[in-house]
Amino acid sequence: INSLYGKSVLDLTELTKEEFLSIIELAIAIKAKPEAYRGVLAGKILAMIFEKNSTRTRVSFEAGIIQLGGQAIVLDSKSTQMGRGEPIKDTAKVMSRYVDAIMIRTYSDQMVAELAGEASIPIINGLTDNHHPCQILADFQTIYEQKGKLEGIKLTYIGDGNNMAHSFLLGGSLVGMDVSIASPKGYEPKKEFVALAKKNAKISGSKIEILNDPEQAAKNADVLVTDVWASMGDESEQKEREAVFKTFQVNNRLAVQAKKDYLFLHCLPAHRGEEVSADIIDGTHSAIYQEAENRLHAQKALMVKVMANL
Ligand code: CP
Ligand code: NVA
Repeated sequence: INSLYGKSVLDLTELTKEEFLSIIELAIAIKAKPEAYRGVLAGKILAMIFEKNSTRTRVSFEAGIIQLGGQAIVLDSKSTQMGRGEPIKDTAKVMSRYVDAIMIRTYSDQMVAELAGEASIPIINGLTDNHHPCQILADFQTIYEQKGKLEGIKLTYIGDGNNMAHSFLLGGSLVGMDVSIASPKGYEPKKEFVALAKKNAKISGSKIEILNDPEQAAKNADVLVTDVWASMGDESEQKEREAVFKTFQVNNRLAVQAKKDYLFLHCLPAHRGEEVSADIIDGTHSAIYQEAENRLHAQKALMVKVMANL
């Protein structure tokens, strides 16, 4: 039985460890033999609502559902009645009658929770201010492919305590990964997600660490990861953040702290010369394109799990 069938995925707090790992396992199987899954979502329609920009999320979901035999409808929220203030409840009830699932990329987690509460179809979070669960599926698939395991891995995230930081905390602690985060003072991940991760970590036996010192955080890391200093919605703080985050660049000076065979990941888009130096992101430790490719396989696996009763 597939306990994910019909379920919404808003963040990584609602998935069990088994459910989370089952999506990654399916992603690996789909990647190995995509033709075996060609008709699995035949006749299914995914609506995608975007209030923020996207390249990878948009294209991997749309290409993914086409490869699975279904179709996607892409909506810019501004061009819908949502953009003119139609209640979320009415949007949810109406869309549930037209399509089989909705992927939404927006700002407010509260709005997405309301959408999921009112809809009778699965809602997938394609990035909000606090979470990016789909990215973590692809990232953990990549780590598994490169390192052969997830449990016992030390993942170090350097930078802004944003949606990616929260999702690494929740996903890592779920599967037994040690997660060490270094952020400038005042830019740490939100306390509520740190607390949830620590609760998970007690069960999985992993270690969660929130620091302000990048070198200390990077010590003995198996995986080094970073993300933009100013996320979508924070653009007006770009200049100010460049000054605050200057000593938080992932570069050769920092990477010597990590294990010799460390893996570098970045969800992209990246700014070479800001959060990461060009020689690191384009160097031999980096798996950013494998990671981006895995968005396709991971998204397909997630859609199969929530949209097909397999
Ligand atoms: N990593 C990621 O979500 O990329 P996009 O913003 O291009 O979708
Ligand atoms: N933290 C970034 C991730 C982009 C994929 C943002 O929210 O803009």
